[in-house]
Amino acid sequence: MIQHMDKSRNERLTRVGKGSAGSAVMRQFWQPVALVEEFDPAVDPATRDRPLKAVRVLGVDLVLFRDTAGQFALMERHCAHRGADLAFARFEGDGIRCPFHGWKYASSGQCVEAPAEPTGSTLCQRIKQPSYPTTVRAGVVFAWFGAGAPPPFPALDCYNAPSTHSFAFKGLWQCNWLQAFEVGIDPAHPSFLHRFLHDVDLDDMGNNAAGKQFRSAAAGEVAGERWPMSRVMRELCQPKIDVASTNYGMQLSATRDIDDSKKHVRTTHAVFPHTFIIPLSETMTITQIHLPIDDTHTYWYSIFTSTGEPLDKTAMREQRARFTNLPDYSPTSGRHNDWGFNAAEQQSRTYLGMGEDDINVHDQWAVEGMGAIQDRTRENLGSSDVAIAQYRRWLLDAMDQLEANPTGLLPEALAQGTLAMAPQTFDGFL
Ligand code: FES
Ligand SMILES: [Fe+2]
Repeated sequence: MIQHMDKSRNERLTRVGKGSAGSAVMRQFWQPVALVEEFDPAVDPATRDRPLKAVRVLGVDLVLFRDTAGQFALMERHCAHRGADLAFARFEGDGIRCPFHGWKYASSGQCVEAPAEPTGSTLCQRIKQPSYPTTVRAGVVFAWFGAGAPPPFPALDCYNAPSTHSFAFKGLWQCNWLQAFEVGIDPAHPSFLHRFLHDVDLDDMGNNAAGKQFRSAAAGEVAGERWPMSRVMRELCQPKIDVASTNYGMQLSATRDIDDSKKHVRTTHAVFPHTFIIPLSETMTITQIHLPIDDTHTYWYSIFTSTGEPLDKTAMREQRARFTNLPDYSPTSGRHNDWGFNAAEQQSRTYLGMGEDDINVHDQWAVEGMGAIQDRTRENLGSSDVAIAQYRRWLLDAMDQLEANPTGLLPEALAQGTLAMAPQTFDGFL
């Protein structure tokens, strides 16, 4: 018998605001807060005069600026004096100044001037705007929101690759982070959601494989013939899904039987708590992090990493920029235009009918169409959802573990195997 999730559990799994169990878990891991390119005047001319942006992370409003030393500083958005909005602060190179009464904050958040106070006042020495450490990896600014010193940065290939071999981009989705993440640990969906009804000529791929996910060739041959991934996914749509617990998260293998002697195996990884890594081609991976902006908004950050040739980052950026509004990186398609749905295309070209050039919009429809926070009390999971079910149990375990031991460190527990997924049979998910 299928067990359904109860409402309180869905709330616990999805809420990320201050004081929530989800926020406590997320605060134990580095979070992406901006692309470095957002501070490039060629991308956003406003940053020429004032390299400062308002950002929102885990329901908290913040400002991020790059000081003249080139360091990114992140602090809470409402001035420690009387709460004015520092998104409109004056940029002074080594800090920012609140326009309401002139209090100045150094990059550390320390108040260094309160000019309306009497000469000799030491008030500002006792004032510190809450601030958070930042670091830059792979073209992304990350911040640490946890207590104490941050843990070592995750040792993933995408963060260690030379900058010539990685490219980062992001996009805004109007939904909760968990349903956005769950699409990436769902190895069954590409056979349907991203199905192309026709394959394109493998010799006509061009040199930009990034826009061709599921269009390029699968590794290996079938009876001397190369198969495009689109054919693998279309013709073999009952993958056997295996999930293994690792010291970073879970490894997923989707095995599709081609014939008695040949199988197609696609391996992906989920890095706890909100990252997945998927293959794009034989020499390229995508690492996608799902930042909870708040309960109902998510930024995905994708880092494309090449293990072969350097990337043509300009071309990759231009390709994505066509489908993106700046400065907020919202997609040009969405609920407002039915995600670009075209019934004729659905009949003749694609399974979904939302375009062939940008498969990202397929996932966007899948997760935004569920509603701002998916109501999991009415879903019915099947055996192809095994990774999703296991992941939810595991996230709940992490929440419980942290509540029982608030000073415990989840990254350490993960590395040591004390926060591992319990093996689970299909029956009785939640
Ligand atoms: S509110 Fe910012 S200086 Fe007064
Ligand atoms: Fe997808």
